[in-house]
Amino acid sequence: MFPVRIRVALGVITALVIALVSSVPALAEGPWPNDPQGPVARTIAELYWIMFAAAVVVLAIVDGALIYAGIKFRERPGHIAQQFHGHNMLELTWTIIPTIMVVSFSVLSWQKLDFINNTHGGDVGMVIQAEGVQWSWNFSYPREDRFRLKDGTTYLTGAQELHIPVGTKVRIELSAKDVIHSFWVPSLGGKKDAVPGRATDLWLQADRPGTYKGQCLEFCGDGHADMLITLVAHPVNEYAAWIDAAKVEAERFNSEEARRGRELFRSLACSGCHTVRGLTGGKFPGAPDLTNVASKKSIVGGLLSPVDEANLRRWIANPQAVKPGTAMPNLGLSEQQVTDLVNFLLILK
Ligand code: CUA
Repeated sequence: MFPVRIRVALGVITALVIALVSSVPALAEGPWPNDPQGPVARTIAELYWIMFAAAVVVLAIVDGALIYAGIKFRERPGHIAQQFHGHNMLELTWTIIPTIMVVSFSVLSWQKLDFINNTHGGDVGMVIQAEGVQWSWNFSYPREDRFRLKDGTTYLTGAQELHIPVGTKVRIELSAKDVIHSFWVPSLGGKKDAVPGRATDLWLQADRPGTYKGQCLEFCGDGHADMLITLVAHPVNEYAAWIDAAKVEAERFNSEEARRGRELFRSLACSGCHTVRGLTGGKFPGAPDLTNVASKKSIVGGLLSPVDEANLRRWIANPQAVKPGTAMPNLGLSEQQVTDLVNFLLILK
């Protein structure tokens, strides 16, 4: 049987291994720094692996020498521990080699940083603005004509997801509305702080189409952990189709009908019961929160699905006909009022 000390040590090691193994699935799902899918991330990963390899070699040599010396020169019966104080050759070796290593790392990092920080090079193909707000990112595309909306003066703005074309160098201009946030999509690029009152930027580029996850990396309050980033890289020939769809969505948001619907929602009884975060805080306990109603799979407890124009009309125009006995009253709305309200509800995603 092992002595108590060894048994305790084995127990601690076993617990650590179990903790490590059980966290692997969580790591596999989240953003992972060593899965580079673009030039900036690849540059950072290269630097990481060079330094990691050097660290492993240093660890092996230093710990190897330590263990060897500890066994070979230790004090034991018939043998007095040897002293090596003031050994010039050794002192010089472990001063000069680390100095050369650290200087090389600095030069290497400097070179790579030149590439990583080159956000204004002539090869930038696109500029997107990202604003950090407690606790989400808003993406706007105010720099290019193809993002101009119908009115001719406003651009696609305030989108919740970041959409880029594959193989294009994209500069992200960062700003923050309230506190310091940090933009980080590890598979594509480095991280950069978004600081209130200060302009910062970074660039990234995706090699392959796909959805890449990111995370705000500066603790910014209660919702920091949920301040995620979803970046979608589209094949170049599909990007125009995405722009068109996003513009239709934005037009709907800016439309006269939606604006009227918003006003109606406030002035009619709706806002007394239903909550729409950022607009109203309804008080009726049974009334569903409508903040993201357009993203839901169904309404009226699953009776009407999907959440589209036809079903919202049916429900609002005559709730009792859909669900007899429901607490939702028939407000006797006009056709136009129903249209306006539905247009407003459809933008609540
Ligand atoms: Cu924003 Cu953390």
